Parts: sequence; structure tokens; C-alpha cells
Amino acid sequence: MGTVILGTGSCLPKRVVTNVELESVVETDDEWIRTRTGIVTRRVSGKGEHTYQLAAEAARRALAAADVSPEEIGLVVVGTISSHMQMPSSACFVQDEIGAVNAFAYDLNAACSGFLFGLDLADKYISLDHSMKVLIIGAEALSSRLDYKDRNTCILFGDGAGAAVLGYSDSDRGIIGTHMLSDGSLWKLLHMHGPESSNPDLAEENWTGAYIRMEGREVFKHAIRAMEGSVRSLLESEGISLDSVDLVIPHQANTRILNKLIKRLELPQRKVFINVPKYGNTSAASIPIALDEANDSGLIAKGDTVLFCSFGGGFTWGAALIKW
Ligand code: ACO
Repeated sequence: MGTVILGTGSCLPKRVVTNVELESVVETDDEWIRTRTGIVTRRVSGKGEHTYQLAAEAARRALAAADVSPEEIGLVVVGTISSHMQMPSSACFVQDEIGAVNAFAYDLNAACSGFLFGLDLADKYISLDHSMKVLIIGAEALSSRLDYKDRNTCILFGDGAGAAVLGYSDSDRGIIGTHMLSDGSLWKLLHMHGPESSNPDLAEENWTGAYIRMEGREVFKHAIRAMEGSVRSLLESEGISLDSVDLVIPHQANTRILNKLIKRLELPQRKVFINVPKYGNTSAASIPIALDEANDSGLIAKGDTVLFCSFGGGFTWGAALIKW
């Protein structure tokens, strides 16, 4: 049928940071964070846990699960907004770390939609070349891009990486369809400046550091509307009903967003995989980490229909359907 996921893997930093620990960093409290976001803990990178290092470890685990060697990989894509260097890409570092010597490699910036946009990309490459194997990774060390004086954002995010190895199968399994969209006109609601410009003519007027900035309430509304819309459009274009979806793996933004989405789509809670209380919002890494955990826990059986949906800075959003 087409592009299948041959194996998944993930890697989380060792350090667990609780809401209570954040109380000594910024004016907040455990109760506020839990009730507004559902987040209880998040992982924060320490030494040796840069974005590319988490990504490389997730990739090694995905390759082992897929029984694919690094030399068989033709393309490495890392969805990220928190590379430790501007250049080279995290994907190039990963290629080197894992020894994917026959691959080309680049990063993809679609914020929290990075993994799904990567999945779509892999599907297109593989449909043109059935011998190709692609490594799609979502990886973030967002702790390096947070303003720990801004309580609106610093409590929400976490670090981690997830990966999937994709290849062709002539069975009846594979990616059924994808539906991806962006709206650059709303960028201000959720953005992160780059480093301060050394060219005064190109300097940002309101540069307040290379940190994530967000209008939380507006993002909240857009995220729910966009994810619901892309899920409905995709299901309609593929002629598939929500009833026949076995598992939904949404972007793990926060439980209030997810609960609203579940209500609007009238989904049974048991069909939706949620791990945001443990890890917070890991942006591009959230879906592949959740996928790996769901896969590892035996929640996905061969032949199941799995639905993904995401929303992130850009804005970028979308949905994807796979017959596992
Ligand atoms: N601790 C304590 N109080 C806080 C904190 C905090 N960490 N952050 C904000 N507050 C205060 C505000 O200052 C405000 O106080 P005020 O009324 O005295 O002004 C009050 O709490 C309410 O603030 P709101 O921003 O209106 O709170 P809201 O109910 O909207 O919840 C939240 C904020 C959780 C950010 C919500 O808007 C949200 O979930 N937005 C979506 C954001 C998101 O998930 N972004 C991730 C990237 S996009 C994505 O992944 C989908």
C-alpha cells in the first residue's frame, strides 16, 4: 500500500523537574499549573543532552526496533526549533552520530508540527523511490529557549526526542493520507526570535531575547479549531469515520486543549493517548515520543487505524492517518 513505520524510538533527558521546583524559579504554583495545563513534571536537558544527542539516541532505538542499519537510511530529517547550533543542522549531527553515511540530512522547522510535516515528506519521497528508508525525528531542548522569568511560557515546555524509521511495504498497511496547513499571518501569537542581529539595519525592533513568546489564550482557541478542522477534513477526504479510528495520538500541548478537542470530536477518552502530564509540551518531539510509548505499551496492533494531529508556531497544523 505504501509508506509504513518500521520502528519507533524515543529518548528523554534524565532530569525530572516538578511544578514545585518551578515555584522557586518563577511566580507560579503547582495547583495553577496542574489545573490550567495538566502538566505535573517535564524533563530538562543536562550536559550531553543537546537536541541532536537526544535525537541520535531516539534514532538508534528506532533503527534497532526496525532492524534497519544506519547505512540503509537515505534521508534524515529532524523537526526542531531548538538546535544547539544554527548551522549545521541537527540532522547533520545525527547523521554523523549514528553513521548514516549514505543519507542526506536537513532540519525542518514547523514547530510542534515538525514530526507530522516530516511524516508527510517521507511519504512523498518513499512513494517516488520504494527502496528508500527515511528517518524522521522530532527533537527539542526547549529549556535552552525559555525565558525563565516569563511564567506564561516557561512552565509549559519540556525536552526530549522521538524517532520513526519509514520504508515501503506492498502490504495493505501504510500512510493513508495527510492534511497539512499553515497560516503565517498569525506568527506573532507564538514565536521565537533568533539571536540578536549584528546588522543594526536588520535588528528586530522588539527583540527581547531568543525565547518563545506566546499569547496563550489566542493560541488555545486557534489550536483547538485548527486540529478539529484538519482531522475532519482528512477523514472526509479519505472517506473514513472517526468510529473506525482505533487510536488518536495528538500533539501533547496540554490537557485542557486535548480535553476540548476530545469533546468537540466526540471521541471516547480511551482512544486518545495522552502523556503530557509527564513531559509537558515537547513541541516537535511530542508526537513521536507519544507514538513510541503507545507502540511500546502494545496499544497499537497491526492493522489498526492511527490518527495524528498537531498544531504549532507558524501557525502550522495538520493531521495524518496510518494503517499500522
Ligand atoms: N502561574 C500562575 N499564574 C499564571 C501563570 C503561571 N505559570 N501564567 C499565567 N498566570 C496568570 C496570568 O498572569 C493571569 O493573571 P491575571 O488574571 O492576574 O492577569 C492568569 O494567570 C490567567 O492567565 P491566562 O493567560 O488568561 O490563563 P489561561 O487560562 O488562558 O491559561 C494557558 C494559560 C495555560 C497558557 C492557556 O492559555 C493555554 O493553554 N494556551 C495554549 C498554550 C499552549 O499550549 N502553547 C504551546 C504552544 S502551541 C501548542 O503546542 C498547541
